[in-house]
Amino acid sequence: MDHHSIIEDAKAQVYDFHSSDSTGHDYWHVMRVYNNARMIQSQEGGDRFIIEVAALFHDMIDYKLTDDEHAQLDGIKAFLSRRGVGADVIERITHAMQAVSFKGGNNTVAVESVEDAIVQDADRLDALGAVGIARTFIYGGNKRHELYHPDRAAREDLTFEQYSQEDNTMINHFYEKLLRLKNLMHTDTARSVAEERHRFMEMYLEQFYQEWEGKR
Ligand code: ADP
Ligand code: NI
Repeated sequence: MDHHSIIEDAKAQVYDFHSSDSTGHDYWHVMRVYNNARMIQSQEGGDRFIIEVAALFHDMIDYKLTDDEHAQLDGIKAFLSRRGVGADVIERITHAMQAVSFKGGNNTVAVESVEDAIVQDADRLDALGAVGIARTFIYGGNKRHELYHPDRAAREDLTFEQYSQEDNTMINHFYEKLLRLKNLMHTDTARSVAEERHRFMEMYLEQFYQEWEGKR
């Protein structure tokens, strides 16, 4: 089967899988990651087909969205194999999917190839900027987190681990994660987009605090 048809089939599969999501992992998140990944690939190289398929399927094995990551992976391997994709390419696709959520802890599949790096950068970009702010509030609303609390205001000196133990407000999530992401990008292309989205988030926070205190 040609690559174009496989990508179209993959989009249909992903649409079905994500149709009932309310945690910020909906189909449109996946499509934005896919588009980010294509944009980064056009500048940085890497195997376009592997990057596109891995981006489309990346959240189907997220532990938050499935009880059985291994069954999901097997399903994706079978999907690709039925369409004539070779075992080595399938291996590189699943590696990139698993490396997306590598945090140095529970997930042991680290970023090793340019394809892994691009898919992870593409996913991280979607946590930034105007869309990233909206996703943070969707996620926090879904978990019934408080928007902001002045006594539990963010401290940039805390480590990621220390943060997770703090009372988590939605605004604190910016300091816990979002404002750190630009320094974690692998590719120059993603880093330059991240820097622009980072500045937007800093402006947003500045306005937020001013409004909170009735100064603007
Ligand atoms: P990913 O899409 O990389 O798997 P996550 O599953 O960690 O990201 O989070 C999905 C979205 O929800 C992201 O935009 C993220 O910033 C946001 N989010 C995750 N944890 C929190 C939190 N504790 N408070 C607010 N937003 C969060
Ligand atoms: Ni994602």
